[in-house]
Amino acid sequence: MSIQTEISFSNMKPGGLHDYSSTYRISTFCVDQVDENVPPSPEQARALAALPQDIATLSSLTDLVTPMALRVAVTLRIFDFIDSGHRTLPSLIDAVDAHAQMLEKLLDHLCFIDVLRLTDDRYELTTVGSLLVRKNDAIGTTAALDLASVAGKLEMAVTELLHAVRTGETVCQGFFGEDVWRHLNSGSYTDADMEVFATGSRVPDLDFLVEGFDWANVGHVVDVGGNTGTVVQALLDRYVTLHATVIDLQCFTGLARQLLARFSARCKVRTQSFFDPLPEGGDVYLLSAILSDWPAQDASRILRNCVHAAGSGGRVVVSELHLNGYFLDPAQPTRTDLLLAASMHAPDRPIEEIMELADAVGLKHVATTKSRIRSILEFRCR
Ligand SMILES: C[S@@+](CC[C@H](N)C(=O)[O-])C[C@H]1O[C@@H](n2cnc3c(N)ncnc32)[C@H](O)[C@@H]1O
Repeated sequence: MSIQTEISFSNMKPGGLHDYSSTYRISTFCVDQVDENVPPSPEQARALAALPQDIATLSSLTDLVTPMALRVAVTLRIFDFIDSGHRTLPSLIDAVDAHAQMLEKLLDHLCFIDVLRLTDDRYELTTVGSLLVRKNDAIGTTAALDLASVAGKLEMAVTELLHAVRTGETVCQGFFGEDVWRHLNSGSYTDADMEVFATGSRVPDLDFLVEGFDWANVGHVVDVGGNTGTVVQALLDRYVTLHATVIDLQCFTGLARQLLARFSARCKVRTQSFFDPLPEGGDVYLLSAILSDWPAQDASRILRNCVHAAGSGGRVVVSELHLNGYFLDPAQPTRTDLLLAASMHAPDRPIEEIMELADAVGLKHVATTKSRIRSILEFRCR
């Protein structure tokens, strides 16, 4: 039995009996009696009897095997194969690219945790298991669990939570040795991988960004960090005289060009870093969901570049997401908070702080509008 955790009982040692910590060791799986010749005292026995539930709780809280087993099963498309008729073990062994005995062990565990059911040598999906069939997945769960996908690889960065808690840097910095955007742009992923990743991403509260600002009176918007152009597409669809430039890193601009091709008369896509000087000529420089990824010093550099490009009297619009509200998980609010804080530098930077950063680079606040999860701050260059 592997011993993972030792719990000392010395504080409840009755009347100078044995030091229980050396007698009983508790693993995350069960309680081992290490020395059979030393019986527990009645008090210790009662304490032990109360332990299995705690141990079961601890075991399920700390388990890494089941979360990984589900990811492996999704990556190997086991749920899809079963859904498409590969119901028996020999048929699955033929279909799935895996080691036969290990596959059987994995299937056993998937049955035990009730995502599969084995009836008369045939595997079936349970209700939960059927959520892991790709064609049934409307919300991107399977992409996030697929260890071969970009989203699935990014998910694994959470194993560097220790790095984030120790240093205040992001889990991606710990896992990949660089920030998430630099990593995505490093050439590690194919265009096809990036396309799946980008098309699975949504722009939260896009309607509010499109309707919550007076775009009708803007000639040319530069969407700084405009990703694959989702925001610009929505703006150009809605405001038919508006022109736009999308600026982003190489990993997104190829796809942005394709997706915006129908607006070629009104839209340009430009590959560059927003830490380099930005093109002049825009009426509004838009930063949508950009500053939250960066510590104050970098956020200031991005804002300053917008100010230089916009010139005197030009406008900068900062639209931040206040993600703690968006991802609110009533069952475990602290989990979401912890994950967001470990994944980006300022997931919910207060509006006052954004105003201070803007003020320091020469921007005068004009107006603020706010939905539950998105703010739109308009600034004019002094
Ligand atoms: C959270 S996304 C926001 C995308 C989009 N603006 C929106 O509202 O959905 C951040 C974007 O910043 C881009 N980005 C990150 N670092 C960048 C850099 N150094 N230069 C240009 N774009 C960058 C990323 O590629 C990504 O598209």
